[in-house]
Amino acid sequence: MCGIVGVVGSKNAKNILLNGLHKLEYRGYDSAGIMISSEEGMYVTKTAGRVAELEALVSDREDNGTGIGHTRWATHGEPTENNAHPHLSKSGRYGLVHNGVIENFEWLRETYLSDVKLNGDTDSEIIVEVVDYFSKQGLSTLAAFTKMLQEVKGSYALALIDVTDDSKIYLAKNKSPLLVGLADGYNLVGSDAMAMINETDRFVEIMDGEKIVLTANEMVILNQDNQEITRDFYVAEIDANDTEKGLYPHYMLKEIDEQPAVMRTLVQEYVTPNGESTIDSDIIEEMAKSDRIYIVGCGTSWHAGLVGQKMIEKLTNIPVEVHLASEMGYDMPILSKNPFFIFLTQSGETADSRQVLVKINELNLPTLTITNVKGSTLSREATYTLLLHAGPEIAVASTKAYTSQITVMLFLAKALGEKLGQQKAKELDVVHELGIVASAMESLVADKDHYAALSEKFLLDSRNAFYIGRGLDYAVSLEGALKLKEISYIQAEGFAAGELKHGTIALIEDGTPVVALISNEEMGSHTRGNIKEVESRGAKTLVVALEGLEKETDDIVLPHVHQLVTPLVTVIPLQLLAYYASLQRDLDVDKPRNLAKSVTVE
Ligand code: M6R
Repeated sequence: MCGIVGVVGSKNAKNILLNGLHKLEYRGYDSAGIMISSEEGMYVTKTAGRVAELEALVSDREDNGTGIGHTRWATHGEPTENNAHPHLSKSGRYGLVHNGVIENFEWLRETYLSDVKLNGDTDSEIIVEVVDYFSKQGLSTLAAFTKMLQEVKGSYALALIDVTDDSKIYLAKNKSPLLVGLADGYNLVGSDAMAMINETDRFVEIMDGEKIVLTANEMVILNQDNQEITRDFYVAEIDANDTEKGLYPHYMLKEIDEQPAVMRTLVQEYVTPNGESTIDSDIIEEMAKSDRIYIVGCGTSWHAGLVGQKMIEKLTNIPVEVHLASEMGYDMPILSKNPFFIFLTQSGETADSRQVLVKINELNLPTLTITNVKGSTLSREATYTLLLHAGPEIAVASTKAYTSQITVMLFLAKALGEKLGQQKAKELDVVHELGIVASAMESLVADKDHYAALSEKFLLDSRNAFYIGRGLDYAVSLEGALKLKEISYIQAEGFAAGELKHGTIALIEDGTPVVALISNEEMGSHTRGNIKEVESRGAKTLVVALEGLEKETDDIVLPHVHQLVTPLVTVIPLQLLAYYASLQRDLDVDKPRNLAKSVTVE
């Protein structure tokens, strides 16, 4: 979704902004722009295209050290140059970038701007004009900014520059992420740490409802009552090199390949050399008191939740429900007496998930966020946090975050099951099993030519594809289908294999690709029957089977791993098939159309 970057007080402002915008590209966007101060005044450059196109357009005037940049993911108004940010007020006094959605933009326009002819169709342009309006009433810039914030309803992260004083940037946020970066002799702002990571590793969180006046050497934080408050910075654990592709053609391929290493890192993070869990005992005690666990997430995180559900139920005997955040936010199920909530979110910023968290917090119930981003909104607002330690995931298509979410839930299930005296949990040697998983992943990712060839054979000319499986294989089928559709634009759906004959089989015709997963002996034998059913109706099948359950004709044989962790290996070929399907169609693997990495609007 939209990305903000800003800098105040650096002679290298233009490069910092452009680098920051490149780093924000992974979030997904359709237009971009920057505004930079110079001796001759502010200059604004925008494009309805990529950051590389913006870079070519930006003038090489010497800059004066202050500027704001933006990548826009259209919500109100088409992705045109006019609608791209920054928006300069008609008077030329104020420039602004905005992420989020202003809900009362029509009221603001009618109330304050009836005589202003706007350039574009965005809600964001309206708020910069409202600041200008209050300033013309005689208010100082800070007072005009504050007054605008009192009038605005909706979600926002904002950075505003007063052209008459480029020594300051004014910031505010509500429900959309925004972070200040502290550098030596200059300061920065960004939607996430990634935008600033080449400049600093020291960050200060901004809370909803606060305003910031940022200068080269100072950060003044004003709370909702306009009182000045202080807050310490934290040091981010991101290595700037982790955010580079290195020799890889795409981030997605790099991130797929990183999965064995992530498994090993997770073992080090979550288990002591003596085999003890490092998970905070408060989390386990709180969970042990619960009579039902609710897992909440979206997209790939929801799919990981479906796997986590089975792991937790099997190892702890506590019932688990998995909910789509976008549904749960508006349709809360009847909750058990002692519920415990797990929020799964790679970014920690997903608006749908946060909406549920806010409601659960109002009920004063215990919550745990499992996220890849330390200090993210869902991490801050939950009772507890566990980190994925996967390193930055840049490709829009989530891969290593999915496998690390499953792995963290496995550690959690094991620790909880042991606490509850569950035999299965005691017997499971997670470190040993994950060691086998890491080696299995290694051998799978080493076989890339095989997946490229399979993708060409099965998917190159296809308009649709089905993924089927039972039990954990069904959960992975959903993820495999999502990976394929989001980056190859082939319509792909995952199904419980036994459900096909209740409707979907009507879609099977000559040449329809069906990917079938078999990782469990009993359920797999039934899936074999479903494979026969679709083959006899013309489907071409691609069978992925666990070693020991394979047949000679199967296309992919997975190294044998423990039953409970099969999703960690079953998903690897599906990620690679999706990658090659996208590549072979000459598509933008890392930045698929219409999608955003961090979905910060509902
Ligand atoms: O950051 P989150 O895990 O909360 O994001 C949720 C989904 O938007 C995300 O998992 C999405 O489905 C994947 N990027 C798809 O690969």
